[in-house]
Amino acid sequence: MSKTSDETPLIECRDLTKEFVHRGKRLTVLEDLDLKVYQGDRIAIMGPSGAGKSTLLQVLGTLDDPTSGELYFDGEPIFERDSDGLAAFRNREIGFVFQFHHLLPEFTALENVMMPGMIARRPQNEVRDRAEHLLDMVGLAERIQHQPGELSGGEQQRVAIARALFMEPRVLLSDELTGNLDLKTGAGIHAILRELNEETGVTVVVVTHDPRLADQMPIKLVVDDGELIPFEPDDPAIGDRIPEALKHREPTNPRALRADTDREVWEEATRGSLEGP
Ligand SMILES: Nc1ncnc2c1ncn2[C@@H]1O[C@H](COP(=O)(O)OP(=O)(O)O)[C@@H](O)[C@H]1O
Ligand SMILES: [Mg+2]
Repeated sequence: MSKTSDETPLIECRDLTKEFVHRGKRLTVLEDLDLKVYQGDRIAIMGPSGAGKSTLLQVLGTLDDPTSGELYFDGEPIFERDSDGLAAFRNREIGFVFQFHHLLPEFTALENVMMPGMIARRPQNEVRDRAEHLLDMVGLAERIQHQPGELSGGEQQRVAIARALFMEPRVLLSDELTGNLDLKTGAGIHAILRELNEETGVTVVVVTHDPRLADQMPIKLVVDDGELIPFEPDDPAIGDRIPEALKHREPTNPRALRADTDREVWEEATRGSLEGP
């Protein structure tokens, strides 16, 4: 995992700060955050509810702009683009998968995955072939003619992942994708993200509050007090992705991390798992 520092990071945040003004009060969610993400990385971002995980992911995906600081993508200061330039960047380079995946209910899995290619006016045969290939990669070759309502929650998430990969983005960003799935199904989704990362080299950044799911990600970071620190202090896998001074830091409130997990364990135990992976 160690990277030489002469490689240009695929994504680099420098002094990234994000503030919200809420009822006249200023809330600093991210403060002078530094991060390097290298091509092919697979990173889990953890932290208790309200820590700023989603905010960070939104800024990484340029869906929201920082209050100050820079974001470089492959060396380019990306927020210097105008809004059309940013939209083109997102379509080309970023695949988003969220818990609410917005599959179109009246279309089949295949049609949903084909959608980005149809919108880009690519030849239909080519689009269909690629969509079938992607659905095969996420283990849904047998389900391509199903509509979302005829798929389990985990299967719907796989369709969303296949759709997000259609345009061959260099980065896949996922926010609590598995939040409404039981642990086994969630682990299956993370295993698919791992396979896709290993087979296609797509860089994966997932937000999750479950350390057991994060375990499939070689690099584990925590949003803590507006900065990124290691989940396990001095974890050698982190390399130079965060500043040296933060690599030893313990989470300010480790119990908050654990409390979140315990609640989920409890919920899972009381819900029972009805759906397969
Ligand atoms: N648009 C917004 N306006 C005001 N406050 C916000 C906004 N978005 C997020 N926040 C606040 O920022 C903090 C971090 O939110 P978020 O990034 O969603 O946390 P997480 O994803 O880690 O649970 C929270 O306190 C939240 O209430
Ligand atoms: Mg969130």
